[in-house]
Amino acid sequence: MSVIILGIESSCDDTSAAVIKDNILLSNIIANQNVHKSYGGVVPELASRAHQQNIIPVVDEAIRSANLSRDDIDAVAFTRGPGLLGSLLVGTSFVKGFALAQNIKMIEVNHLQAHILVHFLQQSDSVSSMPDFPFLCLLVSGGHTQLVLVKDFLDMEIIGSTIDDAAGEAFDKCAKLMGLPYPGGPHVDKLAKKGDAWRFNFNKPKIDDYNYSFSGLKTSFLYFLRDQLKKDDQFIDNNRADLAASLQRTIIDILLQKFIMAAKDYKVKHIALAGGVSANSGLREAVLKTFDKSGYSTYIPEFSFTTDNAAMIAITGLYKYYKGQFADQDVTPLARMHF
Ligand code: KG4
Ligand code: ZN
Repeated sequence: MSVIILGIESSCDDTSAAVIKDNILLSNIIANQNVHKSYGGVVPELASRAHQQNIIPVVDEAIRSANLSRDDIDAVAFTRGPGLLGSLLVGTSFVKGFALAQNIKMIEVNHLQAHILVHFLQQSDSVSSMPDFPFLCLLVSGGHTQLVLVKDFLDMEIIGSTIDDAAGEAFDKCAKLMGLPYPGGPHVDKLAKKGDAWRFNFNKPKIDDYNYSFSGLKTSFLYFLRDQLKKDDQFIDNNRADLAASLQRTIIDILLQKFIMAAKDYKVKHIALAGGVSANSGLREAVLKTFDKSGYSTYIPEFSFTTDNAAMIAITGLYKYYKGQFADQDVTPLARMHF
């Protein structure tokens, strides 16, 4: 028998609801919060308030565009963490009320696990191939940078992670230094297409094992700009595209070096990308080129499933539903959450 799951995502600044029937996506609605733009970053209190405003209309829209009614939903999955506590509380509280009113089960989902499991989501109009277990996934987002060995749907091992900033933070913080709006990652990506990636060189970290570090790159970028601006106060304006391209190349080089090393050491045949930074066109191209030519099967999510969305929460909820892993009404959100 088919299972219909409603997924809810509210961990940061996107309010999203999605409906799936088994592993097929029926709807995925995302309300972005523009309120943070003028602050140059996400303001937690404003995020919670915007979630509170958005959540009911977003859920209504997700159910309506799936051509279903509330009574068709078998279970509701939600992001328990990690994320901003105030934002997570809105989603969690909504889900408790919804589950009680509909007399259905709740399923708690780890946001990071969900970014990875989006690879198992199918669109109704096309069948896409999925990675085989075990595979190695580079999970790169605004808050996390991890190399994850995925042994099964709900069996994942983090083999490396950043010891300071995440890759998305490196994009966003350096973009801010260049005067670009928040979040800066997509702006750097766009500018980089017109720039010379080999024009400038920035420091790369020397870190053990499969771990990452991005705070040194940010400092190197900051000092470089400061020195150049002393000589030419128009330096950023005159070199923005080359700066973006050189920065992006450096971030991609850092990410790929450990990814390639870990893929070889763990002898996996399938590799995958996930998380907001996997929307980066330079990273997507570099991963495809590097791994395809070495005989790996490479999986990169569609653009709409790279950044935060509830479809990934719903598909993760499905695998937990199959295992009978349900949450109780006293469940609380977690700002930090491991898997
Ligand atoms: O996964 P996500 O939506 O939220 C978190 O869970 O953090 O990731 C957001 C991050 C931001 O740092 C944003 O700048 C970055 O993903 N990002 C990009 C691109 N699109 C989003 N970074 C580089 N290039 C992009 N095209
Ligand atoms: Zn995310």
